[in-house]
Amino acid sequence: MNISPQIIEDIKARNDIEHVVSSYITLKRAGSNYNGSCPFHSERTPSFTVFPSTQSFYCFGCGAGGDAITFVMRMENLDYISAVRALAERSGVTIPENFNHINGTNEVTRQRVLEMNKDAARFFRNALFDSKYGAQAMDYLVNKRQLSTAVIKHFGLGFAPNSFGALHDHLKKLGYTDEEMVVGFLCGKGKNNTTYDYFRNRIMFPIIDVSGNVIAFGGRVMDNSEPKYLNTSDTPAFKKSKNLFALNYAKSHCENTMILCEGYMDVISLHASGFENAVATLGTAITAEQARIFSRYTKKVVISYDSDQAGQRAADKAFKLLQEVGVDVKILKMEGAKDPDEFIKKYGATKFNSIIDASKTRFEFEMDKILTKYNINNVDEKIKASHELCRVIANFSSEIERELYARKMAVVFDVPLTSVQKDVSAIIKRRVREDKSKEQSELYRITSGIGDRVNPESASNIRANKIEEAILGLMLLKVEHLKECSERLIADNFVTPFCKKVFESIVSIYKEYGKFDVGYIQDEFSFEQISRITKMLTERERLSVNDKATLDNLIKSLTNEGEKKSDGDSFDDIFDTIKNKKRTEKG
Ligand code: GTP
Ligand code: MN
Repeated sequence: MNISPQIIEDIKARNDIEHVVSSYITLKRAGSNYNGSCPFHSERTPSFTVFPSTQSFYCFGCGAGGDAITFVMRMENLDYISAVRALAERSGVTIPENFNHINGTNEVTRQRVLEMNKDAARFFRNALFDSKYGAQAMDYLVNKRQLSTAVIKHFGLGFAPNSFGALHDHLKKLGYTDEEMVVGFLCGKGKNNTTYDYFRNRIMFPIIDVSGNVIAFGGRVMDNSEPKYLNTSDTPAFKKSKNLFALNYAKSHCENTMILCEGYMDVISLHASGFENAVATLGTAITAEQARIFSRYTKKVVISYDSDQAGQRAADKAFKLLQEVGVDVKILKMEGAKDPDEFIKKYGATKFNSIIDASKTRFEFEMDKILTKYNINNVDEKIKASHELCRVIANFSSEIERELYARKMAVVFDVPLTSVQKDVSAIIKRRVREDKSKEQSELYRITSGIGDRVNPESASNIRANKIEEAILGLMLLKVEHLKECSERLIADNFVTPFCKKVFESIVSIYKEYGKFDVGYIQDEFSFEQISRITKMLTERERLSVNDKATLDNLIKSLTNEGEKKSDGDSFDDIFDTIKNKKRTEKG
């Protein structure tokens, strides 16, 4: 059974994009649209825009775009069907249990991967507790890592036997296909199309989301061999940049504070010692999306990274991202141990608690770092140190914070407060200028098609591509333009393969249902492609020349383009209008 366009329409009608987006980020009204800080990239000036009139969003900074369904897919890391379901639930629309997409494919769904992961987690756990397979692993966890059986069970730890087919054969018996195992990242594909177990002879850490689904695994070796960890790559059920290890437990102990660690073992150690508010990223540096998860669950985050250089560098990034989402961030100063796991074992939980209490603010942390790096009794070094600290202060978005830190700096460095203030505001002004020019060159890059991954052929067909995109934008904007184009144009009028595919897709849906909505094609196109399609719509939305005459001219131009007799008619004027409009908006 398919999701009928009627259902999509119902769901979209009941889930205004501005409301959907507002439940994740703060939007401010800007004319008839809304602006906010983009949740998909990290930015200082809000360039994320929601357009109620077309029920779409577009970020002028990173180019992410789409409708309410795309937004939920991206924010919640859901596949199309799950996002539609989530929106349906949100608004009380009932959709049939077994519906599939309009262009139904037999792709491996999130639900199926989750079921398979649960079965795999059971398999790993049984192997760990079965002395025939798991004796060595159990010995490692209990003796070497000092974990109790209760903790091992609490975290659902397991063991992947040293075999190329044990898990595969087990899952096969349970009815999973090779394709599902490969897509779910439990198996790899070898020569001659054979399927082999990806995790072998490793301690298995299931990654569990807040609803209790096993979404992924981390697998650690028991010796010093490399790589130390294997982690699940992104699957239909998992995106590592959007989840946190142990959030399923931490979520109920984190109203005030969360502890952010680097390693799974740190988190397990901390939970075992009563710090159940500890979480870790999943083998990568913290992302903007993860920072936002923190802001949803807690007020304050204490960064407890490893005390080595890599850990401290990573802390810098974490500080920045967490600060941007508005949580109170502190950093742990840990001496005498390389990581929280070792610290707790060496000094105990009480001592750990006291270093949590003594954790430093970003400013204190940065100032300490600078003061150890430079000798401020020497004038040259003092100047360098001042420059660095002013840059740190300029990073704070709150004026009050900047003012208070400037005062602190003035005292410590023994310089006039007004000088600090002047230097800080000069830095801020320069950065705003830099941001603007970056945005401009990004715009240039996009409009000139250089490095265009979505539509690589746009670079060699700049003019034709502009016309195509304008036509597609008009088709998306008004159903009468859509009707007109479906009658007067054919796919072969389109020059670049991407625009041709978009045209075909729009027209085939229009012919079947008499209408079109981006919501119907999310399965067929990637996020980047959906973003581009939304951009076409957004460009039209920003212009006032969207009437029939404009469309007629564009159609004429495109058919001329196809016949390669460029007649240089009035289209450059239209694009000039775009440019001028941008210029006036910026100015
Ligand atoms: P222990 O060394 O047992 O204390 O483990 P740990 O979990 O504390 O690991 P460590 O501090 O070395 O690394 C922090 C995190 O980075 C780990 O939990 C993993 O998520 C990730 N990681 C470490 N090594 C690798 C690796 O070789 N490959 C990948 N993909 N991720 C790794
Ligand atoms: Mn460690």
